Amino acid sequence: MLIEMRGIEKVYKLGSERVNALRGIDLDVSEGEYVALTGPSGSGKSTLMHLIGCLDSPTAGRYLLAGSDVSSMSDAALARVRNRQIGFVFQTFNLLPRATALHNVEIPLIYGGFGTRERRRRATAALERVGLADRMKHQPNQMSGGQRQRVAVARALVTDPSILLADEPTGNLDTATGNSILELFAQLHASGQTIVLVTHEADVAAHARRHIVLRDGKIESDDANKKESAG
Ligand SMILES: Nc1ncnc2c1ncn2[C@@H]1O[C@H](COP(=O)(O)OP(=O)(O)OP(=O)(O)O)[C@@H](O)[C@H]1O
Ligand SMILES: [Mg+2]
Repeated sequence: MLIEMRGIEKVYKLGSERVNALRGIDLDVSEGEYVALTGPSGSGKSTLMHLIGCLDSPTAGRYLLAGSDVSSMSDAALARVRNRQIGFVFQTFNLLPRATALHNVEIPLIYGGFGTRERRRRATAALERVGLADRMKHQPNQMSGGQRQRVAVARALVTDPSILLADEPTGNLDTATGNSILELFAQLHASGQTIVLVTHEADVAAHARRHIVLRDGKIESDDANKKESAG
């Protein structure tokens, strides 16, 4: 099992106020799955995504990622796990504005300790994989929104992560451009990439093979469970 969560809770403390963002999540995701997380605003989608991606630790519960317990790791250890296992794509692309596409994609490899030549080779291959072989030298402001998001996908993939995590990856794109990013995800899934995608939109979620709905910090429904209980 790639992702194995048991009894995951997340409480945010804001002064004297406590927000129970996740209230007991049990979740298993196998290698190669394509999962869409949906649910109303505030239901805990981004919080769950941050935990899956080791950007944050749960308040309670156990999380095994590829067999190792990441629920109580130090921040430094979590950063290493993130760099090796997780690729992130965000709604707002989060690219360095002054850097070329190639340099943006190389950044995770700098943290990963790769040499210049190997970085260049891998970043070039990642940009080719997302269809941007002819835009390597462009800066983000010299590219369309869809191209920027492709650069972000290339950056997410360049370390060959176990999981690609995407939070509203089509949220800033028009429908046609968003669909082209979803087609790219479908290709990546077909080539074996595990993907977890967060979205508000039912038609975006329909692209995934498994659909999980969160409500008030709990899993309200999960296709995988439905199939089990039906079969
Ligand atoms: N850093 C934080 N500090 C305090 N409360 C937070 C923090 N992040 C999220 N929350 C709260 O936790 C709950 C879940 O938030 P989360 O961002 O996970 O929801 P979401 O499902 O991603 O919503 P949206 O669809 O609007 O992006 C909300 O009530 C939110 O206000
Ligand atoms: Mg969110």
